[in-house]
Amino acid sequence: MVSPILKWAGGKRQLLDELYSRFPNSYAHYHEPFFGGGALFFDLEPSNGSINDTNDRLINFYEHVRDRPEELIDTLRSFDDPESDPDPDRRFSDTNRKGKEIKNYYYQQRELFNNRPYDDDYDELEEAALLLYLNRTCYNGLYRENSSGGFNVPIGRYSNPDWVRAEEIRKASHVLEDTEIRNTGFEYILEVAEEDDLVYFDPPYEPMSPTAYFTDYSAEGFGKEDQEQLRDVAQKLDERGVNVILSNSGVMYEMYDEAGFYVEVEGATRAINSDAENRDEVDEVIATNVPPKERRRAGQQGLADF
Ligand SMILES: C[S@@+](CC[C@H](N)C(=O)[O-])C[C@H]1O[C@@H](n2cnc3c(N)ncnc32)[C@H](O)[C@@H]1O
Repeated sequence: MVSPILKWAGGKRQLLDELYSRFPNSYAHYHEPFFGGGALFFDLEPSNGSINDTNDRLINFYEHVRDRPEELIDTLRSFDDPESDPDPDRRFSDTNRKGKEIKNYYYQQRELFNNRPYDDDYDELEEAALLLYLNRTCYNGLYRENSSGGFNVPIGRYSNPDWVRAEEIRKASHVLEDTEIRNTGFEYILEVAEEDDLVYFDPPYEPMSPTAYFTDYSAEGFGKEDQEQLRDVAQKLDERGVNVILSNSGVMYEMYDEAGFYVEVEGATRAINSDAENRDEVDEVIATNVPPKERRRAGQQGLADF
């Protein structure tokens, strides 16, 4: 069991038991087309298969975790405390691109991250390190972009921020060793998933009640048409004999019920708000084509693990 390296909106750590209880007794390869922080993947530690996300900086990060873990760790070690002064030897030590004063190292790092590509200076390894650094030192530890794609979260208040995470990177690198990493839309799964594989879909969705009006729904640009396209892809996988498990907003209950999936409502608390009082119980559904009698028993390891 490896901890996710990044904190990511919609992370599924609280849902792990629910997801495992829908797993088939055995499967061949494991795929996660909406990877984000990969909570289930890292907990499961699959030995092969594929992961994917449309966020190119996120995927650049995981490629470096897999292929260049020691260089990534060394780069992270070279970074300073977020509250310290900007590094005078690097760009944006006084002002950002818009001429606004930069007061500390955190905002210099954020500006470097947002200045992709940094003219001649652009370096994918550094970008990967900056993503983790910002994730570990920003307010609330979340990744958020403004409409023009800039990471815009302010500095967080941590007494002792740990942005290196050397052991987590090494372990994650080992788990990712034989995993194919893609940076495209979720439909790629139709190219790679084979009979008896297992696919876990966790698309972007907003907390809402199952009675909310369906056409109002849209999260992170993932709207009604994307949801319908995802359902079509899930059905094609089902016809191919691929095991499918999907978590989604409660409003998607009927769509998957009508498509012949087993759908159950779960009340899950989602780690988006730092303020505990705002953490509403949210109706989520888990849909799967794995019949109850073919699911592994609670606590039982998949055959692939022996
Ligand atoms: C709910 S998050 C996944 C969270 C993840 N399960 C975890 O534990 O952290 C959804 C992810 O889907 C990605 N995404 C959005 N649209 C996508 C698309 N069309 N195809 C693939 N990934 C997409 C987002 O960048 C985001 O990282």
